[in-house]
Formats: sequence, structure tokens, C-alpha cells
Amino acid sequence: MEVIIKKDYEAMSKEAALIVANLVKNIPNCVLGLATGSTPIGLYKELIRMHKNEGLDFSKVTTFNLDEYCGLPPSHDQSYHYFMHDNLFNHINVQPQNIHVPSGTAPDVDAFCEWYEDEIEKAGGIDLQVLGIGGDGHIAFNEPGSSLGSRTRMKTLTQETIDDNARFFAKKEDVPRYAITMGVGTIMEAGHCLLLCNGEKKAETIARAIEGPITAEITASALQMHPQATFILDEPAATKLKRYDYYKWVYDNKP
Ligand code: F6R
Repeated sequence: MEVIIKKDYEAMSKEAALIVANLVKNIPNCVLGLATGSTPIGLYKELIRMHKNEGLDFSKVTTFNLDEYCGLPPSHDQSYHYFMHDNLFNHINVQPQNIHVPSGTAPDVDAFCEWYEDEIEKAGGIDLQVLGIGGDGHIAFNEPGSSLGSRTRMKTLTQETIDDNARFFAKKEDVPRYAITMGVGTIMEAGHCLLLCNGEKKAETIARAIEGPITAEITASALQMHPQATFILDEPAATKLKRYDYYKWVYDNKP
């Protein structure tokens, strides 16, 4: 587990972009797992910049997104499908047939979730999974109490997540109550997990995820068991870490 602390959101995003870009350069047909939300927007902006200015080539890359709200069609401006096209896919040369975002409108949810898991497997598994963290410690939409072995399925969102995400909707009542999400078990099978976290508001939560006990109460804490997990935090998010000085020293003195 590596914890990298950067000065601010921009530095955090650039550090994450370097990791993603290195993989794409070294393995052009890699499989990326992607997240939505406010956190990775800076990372996506930097990847777009690298594509436009430095020729970073996504033409052979396959992507799988973590989650999608139930009931929102891809054309809905708050769907994660729409978000990904708006913030990344429309601006790089990823091939539409290589993009996978869970469907929020599948008539048979269980069959869809099984299909999604099969597609990940057929693609050879996810090489690098980008993650954010919710205020309640969730990764993807694996809310507190989710099984740490869970697979792609429908989850009911907690009130905290609904409140957090209400900022994107006209009214709180418009936030969907259900989502399709990769499970913690699905995420744990990615070759490398890259979790980004910024802002003082999440300092307590990220400290629990990194340094607290592994618990379904904070599903991000499962990453402590992952053989290659990287956490990139900005300074405000890192303020509650007990081993803050140690992480800094390790990063600054890499052999
Ligand atoms: C989104 C996702 C969520 C978010 C989390 C943090 O695809 O999987 O787990 O990463 O809710 O959201 P933000 O970044 O908006 O604070």
C-alpha cells in the first residue's frame, strides 16, 4: 500500500495522470477501470491534455466504469454514462465499442450484472482501477455494510450518499435511491487500485480507510488487503493520518 500526499488537488490529479499515462504507453491495449464524481475530473482533464498535446493514444484501451444510477438513461445529464462522455470519452480517441458503463435501465438487472462481470473477465481483467471515496467510506457504490466479497449488483444508496450527490441534481428528491455497482470483490481483482481523495471534509474517512481496521463499515478499507493499492491525497485530506510524516518520507526518499 502506497500513500502519496500532494500539495493540492491539481498536483494530486497530475500524479494520478502520470500513473494512468505510463500504463497506457507501456500497455496500449490495457483495461482501465474508471470512476465518476468530482474527484477524478482533474485527472481526466490532464489525460485529455496529454492526448491533445502529447499524443497519448487511447485507441486500443478498453474501459469499464464502476457504477451507474438505476433509472437514468445514458442521455440523462446526471447519468454516469453522460458524465464519462462529457468529461473524458468525447475528448480522447477511445473506441466506442471499448467503452463499458453499467446500464441504469437494464430490464433484467441480475442478468446485466452477470454480463458485466463476464465482459470484464473476457477483457482479461482490469489492469488499473481508478477510485474515489465517499464521505461514508464507500468505493464505487459499496455502501457501509456491503460484503467485502461482493460482485456487480444493485445497491441501495445511503442517505449520506444521497445528500452528498444532491449537489448535482436540481432537487434532493431527484437523486436516485439505487445504483448498479461493481462489488468490492470485483474491484479487488484489478491489478492495481488507484484511489484519489481530496479535501478536509474526507480527512477522517480516508484515515479510517488507510489506517483503521478492515471493515465493511468503510468498504475502502478492503484495499489494505490489495497487493497493489496506491492512495493519492491532497494535503487537506491527509491531515488526520497518524503516519503522515512516514508516508511523506517514503515518497521523498524512494530508492
Ligand atoms: C463514482 C463512485 C463513487 C465516488 C464517491 C466520491 O463512480 O464510484 O464511489 O468516487 O462517491 O465522489 P466525489 O468524487 O464526487 O466526492
